[in-house]
Amino acid sequence: MTPRVAILISGGGSNMVTLVNAMRSDMIDATPVVVISNIPTADGLQKARDLQVHPHAIDHRDYNGDRVAFETDLHKVLIKFNVDIVCLAGFMRILTSDFTDKWGGRVLNIHPSLLPKYKGLHTHQRAIDAGDSHGGCSVHIVTGTLDGGPVLGQTPVPIVPNDSADDLAARVLVEEHKLYPAVLADFVKRYEQ
Ligand code: GRF
Repeated sequence: MTPRVAILISGGGSNMVTLVNAMRSDMIDATPVVVISNIPTADGLQKARDLQVHPHAIDHRDYNGDRVAFETDLHKVLIKFNVDIVCLAGFMRILTSDFTDKWGGRVLNIHPSLLPKYKGLHTHQRAIDAGDSHGGCSVHIVTGTLDGGPVLGQTPVPIVPNDSADDLAARVLVEEHKLYPAVLADFVKRYEQ
């Protein structure tokens, strides 16, 4: 049985699309079974529909800050779809260690920096402001520490003179779309053993 993958998004879902396409090619031996967004209007949900992956919204605002209740419902959906691996792809909610412990090393995330540098937000601007030679992206295992789990793969992207955060973000996103499928492919191979 190939592992069943849920992809969690909050926005445009371009990483989600590349993961789904890679799972439907020979590249990744896994099946995308559900795309879940914490924002019901996220464009990525329509993209999931177009790709014929089940779209599901769980609006975090309905939970008034109760992260445990939100995660309980998220967990229920993952169980309902018999999910084995969870890929966060532009999912803008922090998950508690209660949740990540339940999923024991089976939650991955893509983060737009060369971790451990620039955890959290505004990563590209922070790399530019620091005078770094490179920004980049990292795929890591999600633990209860924000952007702090073991890194599975990284791609550096040169910062060029007069780069804006948007310029850099656009070039990093191109690399995200290569890195995440490659790391997931490797993760799935090891998962099956
Ligand atoms: C990506 O840059 C991701 O690393 C960051 O948010 C962006 C999401 O893009 N966390 P998309 O929704 O996959 O298009």
